[in-house]
Amino acid sequence: MPKFSEAVAPSQAFLYGEHAVLYGSPALAMSVDIKTRARITEVEDKIIEIKSDKFSQGLKWRYDRERPEESPLFPLASGLMDLMRRYEFNRGLMVEISSEVPVSSGMASSASTSAAISAAFLSLIGEKPEKSLLLDIVYDFERRIHGKASKTGPACAVLGGLVWVEWRDERMEVSRIDPKRDLSIAISCSGLPSETKKLVSMVSKKYNEMRDVMERIISAISIVTLEGRRAIESGDLVRAGELMNINHGLLSAMGVSNHVLDDIAWMMRKFGAYGAKLSGAGGGGCVIGLSDDPEMLAKNLSASYLSFAAKVSLEGAKVIK
Ligand code: MEV
Repeated sequence: MPKFSEAVAPSQAFLYGEHAVLYGSPALAMSVDIKTRARITEVEDKIIEIKSDKFSQGLKWRYDRERPEESPLFPLASGLMDLMRRYEFNRGLMVEISSEVPVSSGMASSASTSAAISAAFLSLIGEKPEKSLLLDIVYDFERRIHGKASKTGPACAVLGGLVWVEWRDERMEVSRIDPKRDLSIAISCSGLPSETKKLVSMVSKKYNEMRDVMERIISAISIVTLEGRRAIESGDLVRAGELMNINHGLLSAMGVSNHVLDDIAWMMRKFGAYGAKLSGAGGGGCVIGLSDDPEMLAKNLSASYLSFAAKVSLEGAKVIK
């Protein structure tokens, strides 16, 4: 039987602070119990093969002689190659990815996939990394995939729970916080792709063109995020929801919402969500609604948009085989 290892990692819902976190603001996100699984099998030749149930075409090449083709799986392949070099692994690998996380949805499917792959690879070679090392590895993958990125998605995928990201001395620090009450959300997908790299550079262009305006929006998001943390830690979901609504408005002002995302957010509020906002880079992807009854909220939205309920994943990336 060839040597193999398998790991799972959760995804993310951004409660407060996306985009602004790339400009020095804090962020608060929830690790979501919708997961990616990666199975890695050692193979004889110097072949790497990556297959994912999210893409019809896989990627396969001999890494001692060829470069992998351009493919949506290419950034994962190059992250994996980096990891192999770092640990002086020079045999072949077959990577099989299966994921419940919609791609380009703002749910950090890339961080969830990178965390599952990294955890499975390290277990295959007999390493038991500290969480902080795994987080750094997944953050490397994330920057390779998106260019500019925060540690929020990697932290949700690696640590689990509610993740707080803040800047100290020009460095992003990550910790977990405890909500006073259990948090549950409904997630509705717009059906439009959320292209993180494109949106991050669009916001950066706007920042350079209208620095005064953008700095005020970012500073308002920063206050909303700090207040949102307080509301969640004290169990005040009404206030937490109201702050999510404000955060959505500020993201609209930044130019990353659109009429579909606004429509979903308004439907969620109409159907009783404490609050609703786009999650992640925007431009498409998902909207999240904070609710005591996320199944009912998702059911109400599901005639128009693919919708489901989600809970906090208390566990981060984990080796299962
Ligand atoms: C993307 O999910 C959220 C952004 O803030 C980028 C990041 O935090 O890495 C736009």
